Amino acid sequence: MAEFTLPANSKIGEGKTHRAPSGTKRIKTFKIYRWNPDDGQNPRVDSFEIDLDQCAPMVLDALIKIKTEIDTTVTFRRSCREGICGSCAMNIDGTNTLACLKPIDEIKGDAKIYPLPHMLVIKDLVPDLTVPYAQYASIQPWLQTESAPPPDAERRQSEAERAKLDGLWECVLCFCCSTSCPSYWWNGERYLGPAILLQAYRWIADSRDEMAGERLDNLEDPFRLYRCHTIMNCTKTCPKGLNPGKAIAEIKKMMVMRR
Ligand code: SF4
Ligand code: SF4
Ligand code: FES
Repeated sequence: MAEFTLPANSKIGEGKTHRAPSGTKRIKTFKIYRWNPDDGQNPRVDSFEIDLDQCAPMVLDALIKIKTEIDTTVTFRRSCREGICGSCAMNIDGTNTLACLKPIDEIKGDAKIYPLPHMLVIKDLVPDLTVPYAQYASIQPWLQTESAPPPDAERRQSEAERAKLDGLWECVLCFCCSTSCPSYWWNGERYLGPAILLQAYRWIADSRDEMAGERLDNLEDPFRLYRCHTIMNCTKTCPKGLNPGKAIAEIKKMMVMRR
């Protein structure tokens, strides 16, 4: 799993503690990583005591409550609140996951919340996704064809062909997998990482796409594909239950078959 531990020489200090009102019965403490690029301060961890009787069940609900009621400067991404947009990815209780899919009651003790590991941080819980999005663009993630479309303009698939995309199309590009992958931590500028490779396979496996050969050529590189060493952190951490490790193995198999 993507266990996130602070290095011994970490300059992350203890920040403010926001206490719950006296008499609150079900208190949960959220320890949240804070860093503001504009204040010149080192990162810190602020503590927020929340009344669970006044909070909806998911970690994202608690973050929204904290931002709304206690500290409006707490910064994080979110949109759909139901595991579809992929934007609320963060490291919760030592594991990369989506805050909107993580029940608070699954966390024993204090809830420790950090940004996705090994990424540059823009502010607080917001990682800089410039590199992974550029890598996503590099695989040309759209249907590409050379043949003319059929007269009715539909490119059809059999049920079996369509079924090959199951386990791939559901990816929400949250990057929980890539940021749990040791190979991506150390070679993130050159290795595409599990999220992008799963997306690449989604198009290679699509029976309607006519550029599989070119797509494989684009991945045939010691770094872009072959830095995967089948450690499988990616598959263990995916909050959508997908298997990027298997998708990477399928690409490698196709590379061998065409030699
Ligand atoms: S299986 Fe490959 S992509 Fe997944 S965590 Fe391991 S090295 Fe990274
Ligand atoms: S494979 Fe899973 S963890 Fe990786 S980006 Fe897609 S949804 Fe997120
Ligand atoms: S808010 Fe969209 S996935 Fe969590």
